[in-house]
Amino acid sequence: MRRKILITGGSSGIGLALANRLSIHHDVMVTGSRPQTDITEPFSSDLIYVQASQSEPETAVKTIAEALLKAGWVKLDNVVLNAGTGFAVKDAIDDIGRLRETMDINLTATILLSRTLYPWLAKAGGTLSIVGSVAHKGQALFPAYAASKGALNAFARALRSEWQSRVAVQILHLGPTRTDMHAKAGHDPGRLRSIFMRPSSMAAMMEFAMASKRSPLTLSFRRYASAGSRLGRNL
Ligand SMILES: NC(=O)c1ccc[n+]([C@@H]2O[C@H](COP(=O)([O-])OP(=O)(O)OC[C@H]3O[C@@H](n4cnc5c(N)ncnc54)[C@H](OP(=O)(O)O)[C@@H]3O)[C@@H](O)[C@H]2O)c1
Repeated sequence: MRRKILITGGSSGIGLALANRLSIHHDVMVTGSRPQTDITEPFSSDLIYVQASQSEPETAVKTIAEALLKAGWVKLDNVVLNAGTGFAVKDAIDDIGRLRETMDINLTATILLSRTLYPWLAKAGGTLSIVGSVAHKGQALFPAYAASKGALNAFARALRSEWQSRVAVQILHLGPTRTDMHAKAGHDPGRLRSIFMRPSSMAAMMEFAMASKRSPLTLSFRRYASAGSRLGRNL
């Protein structure tokens, strides 16, 4: 059955890989903060793009809700709240601006979007997938990022219990993936990058995880390797 799917942070990396993959069989709307003309990675012509900066959470939520109404989408089968950012620190968190921005993009906008999109999800008996990170337990160099993902973990668990049988809620703790996120965060993973998963491989795992509706789920290289042919392994 053709589904209506919304993916935030679909202008690059993991979100875009997932959107391109799902758009083969479903209607997919993606968001990002940049203008569509600035998207550099392959972008399926079937995708609907909405520019909405989560640095201003309330405005982003309003823009996305308006885009759904404009497109005539009255329900959402899947929402993937994937947009995220981070910044590496050396000694201490001294950049208050980046700290606030990280929390706004990763946490506040995700919470507001979850609440606002509930009627769309409830109409479809849909699934809300929140993109977390294996860093949610704490990660050296990325304290603010880790804190935002830890908070998302708690939020998703609370919402899963609150929404129970009406809308499935899951938190996906992603492992290291070969996107531009690390460079944007001012961090060079060096040779470790070569063992990071490809965004397309992570997208395959995410599609599988979304269908399962289970939570929490850790999606990492180890899990991918053990999942075998079900995912069409191609690292
Ligand atoms: N890569 C990894 O190793 C890894 C590991 C664990 C979890 N994750 C999580 O996976 C998700 C996707 O990350 P990625 O690796 O694919 O990184 P990415 O390539 O940098 O993509 C991040 C996405 O989030 C969007 N975004 C960032 N700031 C935004 C803002 N202010 N408003 C709206 N959208 C914004 C970006 O859109 P614009 O560029 O248009 O702003 C982009 O589409 C994130 O939540 C990240 O925390 C990644």
